[in-house]
Amino acid sequence: MVSQVSEAVLDVIADALVDKGYILLSDIIPDYISLALLEKMQAEQNIKFKEAAIGRGVEQQINTDIRSDKISWLDNQDHTDREYLSIMNQLKDGLNRRLFMGLFDFESHYAVYEPGAFYKKHVDALHGSQNRILSTVFFLNPDWQECDGGELVIYDEFDQPLDVVSPKIGTLVLFLSERFPHEVRQTFKTRNSIAGWFRVSNANHGF
Ligand code: OGA
Ligand code: MN
Repeated sequence: MVSQVSEAVLDVIADALVDKGYILLSDIIPDYISLALLEKMQAEQNIKFKEAAIGRGVEQQINTDIRSDKISWLDNQDHTDREYLSIMNQLKDGLNRRLFMGLFDFESHYAVYEPGAFYKKHVDALHGSQNRILSTVFFLNPDWQECDGGELVIYDEFDQPLDVVSPKIGTLVLFLSERFPHEVRQTFKTRNSIAGWFRVSNANHGF
């Protein structure tokens, strides 16, 4: 079954990206997909996940003072991953039609933050080719409580917190990659998410 994103929802997202540069959505991914993603993630957590690095190419390094999550990249050959990637593909086409963003491809990874893990304030856009234009974070945590921590904090250009997002299952956050520093506050419970980036194919080409 292929889940469809409506034109009306695409309109709302496009308007929000123009007006404020980010949006939180709570019912764009059907529950059966979120639950399948969570189940797959939990089944693979001890097998496939590796310490996350920062930077790219030769500059890539593991720095657990900055981030301490473990990640595993989504794979278009996997049928569960493909359901999620298909929705992201509809976002890509819908936003390109409305905003001429020139989004070219999408890369994403599952991330598990074990108790105590965090990701300090950073900006997702990487210099060089295939730059990240639009960031996505999808949360997979049922029954998340305030005392569990692990909030995603989105900052404005003056480094003031704009939004503090609880990583509850079903919440999808979209934000322009170059504009919003953000962090994952220390979590006190195992925290599961999928982070992804729409990229352009040429570094001179932006939004
Ligand atoms: C990232 C990131 C946030 C999250 O991987 O760049 O900001 O909540 N992730 O997983
Ligand atoms: Mn990030």
